[in-house]
Amino acid sequence: MRPAVPAARGAAPAEETRQPPAVELRGVSKTYLQYHEKVDAVRDVSLAIPAGEFAAIIGRSGSGKSTLLHLLGLLDRPTSGDVLVEGKPTAHLSGAEVAAFRGRRVGFVFQTFNLIARFTVLENVVLPALIQGTRPDAARRRAQGLLERVGVGHRADHKGVHLSGGEQQRVAIARALVNDPALVLADEPTGSLDTRSSAQVMDLLAELHEEGRTLVFVTHDLGLARRAARVVELADGSVVRDTREARRPQARKPRAEATA
Ligand SMILES: Nc1ncnc2c1ncn2[C@@H]1O[C@H](COP(=O)(O)OP(=O)(O)OP(=O)(O)O)[C@@H](O)[C@H]1O
Ligand SMILES: [Mg+2]
Repeated sequence: MRPAVPAARGAAPAEETRQPPAVELRGVSKTYLQYHEKVDAVRDVSLAIPAGEFAAIIGRSGSGKSTLLHLLGLLDRPTSGDVLVEGKPTAHLSGAEVAAFRGRRVGFVFQTFNLIARFTVLENVVLPALIQGTRPDAARRRAQGLLERVGVGHRADHKGVHLSGGEQQRVAIARALVNDPALVLADEPTGSLDTRSSAQVMDLLAELHEEGRTLVFVTHDLGLARRAARVVELADGSVVRDTREARRPQARKPRAEATA
């Protein structure tokens, strides 16, 4: 009998199974202290995100979506448990080591864009590359290329705040890509946008996945979540549902450097 979903041509299943997840939470909890009261934002979550995954995180306000995303991207450290990146534990790493790793491997996109107001669009995109030690002329060339790609190249010399929300988010996506990260994390990337700009931003994110990046985004919009291959639902800091659909898109080819 033919398999319902034929294996992609050229795919090497043995190799794929050897590849560790892009990022994995193992028994991770995150507790915050609010006015002397403990808030369990994430409770004992174990979740593996394979390389090349396109996943949406959904759940009610306060269910722990942002906290979980920040933990996946090492923007925040767990109270207990460990975050493994490409199979490597990170709990023992220093803050500086984690920051260096995050800068090279992870791109973040936020709901409110978070562009630096006194910088131009180009400067905003160049900055993370300079922080990683890229030469200024190379960083500028790469940033300009990315701005062209997301359709705001003509706005490079403008101040970010003068752009529309949709344009600012496209700049933020260019900024997230400037260090060519294998993992892109987006926290309600369309939450501040109108329907048309939302669709453009989602198309761009889907494109990043298509070219082999691992993509995880948080959304309140179930229609957008359905574009992902996997939907993880949180309630009260725990995963209450984790569904995959075979017909949803998978990356054509996980990026080779995801295993490096
Ligand atoms: N820095 C913090 N200090 C204290 N409590 C926090 C902090 N960040 C989050 N929390 C608490 O942790 C819980 C989960 O918050 P989180 O921001 O992860 O939820 P969310 O699902 O992203 O919500 P929303 O949909 O509103 O963005 C909430 O009760 C929140 O108040
Ligand atoms: Mg949130």
